[in-house]
Amino acid sequence: MAILGIETSCDETACGIIDLNGNILSNVVASQIETHAPYGGIIPELASRAHIINIHKVVREAIKISNLSLNDISAIAVTNGPGLAGSLLVGLNFAKGLSSSLNIPLIGVNHLEGHISACFIEENKFNLHKNEIFPCISLLISGGHTELILMNDYDSYKLLGQTRDDAVGEAFDKVSRILGLGYPGGPVIEKWAKLARNKNYELPRAWLKKDEEFSFSGLKTASKNLAYEKIYDNKKINQEEIKNEMSELAYAFQVAVSDVLITKSIRVAEKYNCKNILVSGGVAANGFIREKFEKKSIKSIFPERKHCTDNGLMIACRGLVDFKKNKIIPSNEILVNPQLNVT
Ligand code: KG4
Ligand code: ZN
Repeated sequence: MAILGIETSCDETACGIIDLNGNILSNVVASQIETHAPYGGIIPELASRAHIINIHKVVREAIKISNLSLNDISAIAVTNGPGLAGSLLVGLNFAKGLSSSLNIPLIGVNHLEGHISACFIEENKFNLHKNEIFPCISLLISGGHTELILMNDYDSYKLLGQTRDDAVGEAFDKVSRILGLGYPGGPVIEKWAKLARNKNYELPRAWLKKDEEFSFSGLKTASKNLAYEKIYDNKKINQEEIKNEMSELAYAFQVAVSDVLITKSIRVAEKYNCKNILVSGGVAANGFIREKFEKKSIKSIFPERKHCTDNGLMIACRGLVDFKKNKIIPSNEILVNPQLNVT
């Protein structure tokens, strides 16, 4: 018997399946990068339409890879927020139909709890009993969120603080757009930053009064100003120099972001006597941030890179937690909640 997880909150149509012991059976992700790349960001209407086209194929493929039949599925877990309303509706309606036709429970999953669950996947298994890591601080860094959460258990947590303006992934995407590097910005900024040689540029860090809070809009503006000063307003610059300036800027941006994320997370972990920091969400795939965290004396736990960005597996994992605790509510009470947050 198994849990089937569906994720459609943003621009990935995804389905993952795990058995009731947490073993991973399949994980299929259909990315919409090609659909949105020409626009430099996600177009919600196009995202919903692509989900409608992809969802059947993705679920079918995940079931095929798992070697199960639909009758082996014990419950369906589905992201019901936060995210794009139209995109969430596609996944939720599909999941409602499937659970009702199979007469099995439907579990609404908070996308952010899903991301955090990916930190508990080790060697192809979701480990439900990793209790030794609690209490811990969870740093959630995605395209829509930047949050610090105190976790005492899988189910017991408190939002300590979040970004006051842009999410960190959003800042990566915007700086990438400023540099004309396209969407999604994170992986491409990471790639360009590796080419930096001089590493002399210093971009500002917003430390704020509260360690638990973040702000990235000033860094974004400073990156834009630097791009204009060094590249766009520099009439004498040649192609080779443009490339160098782009990589120096990408590097300075990445350093400023990781400095703030790491320093604040460690301070908050110390404040709450936590020995572990879980780092999840799409930006946790960033190799530079992972490396910098790993060099610190406090233990940081990241999902595998492929499990950092949106996927259905993390939703199935989180669904399994609720399923084991029998936290099942009638499916007609599970609604789309675009603003759903952890509290
Ligand atoms: O978690 P996610 O897949 O979707 C949301 O829930 O938002 O995160 C997507 C975000 C995008 O902003 C993307 O640019 C960023 O994660 N991202 C990265 C990397 N890979 C994805 N940011 C920095 N470095 C990366 N390697
Ligand atoms: Zn996400």
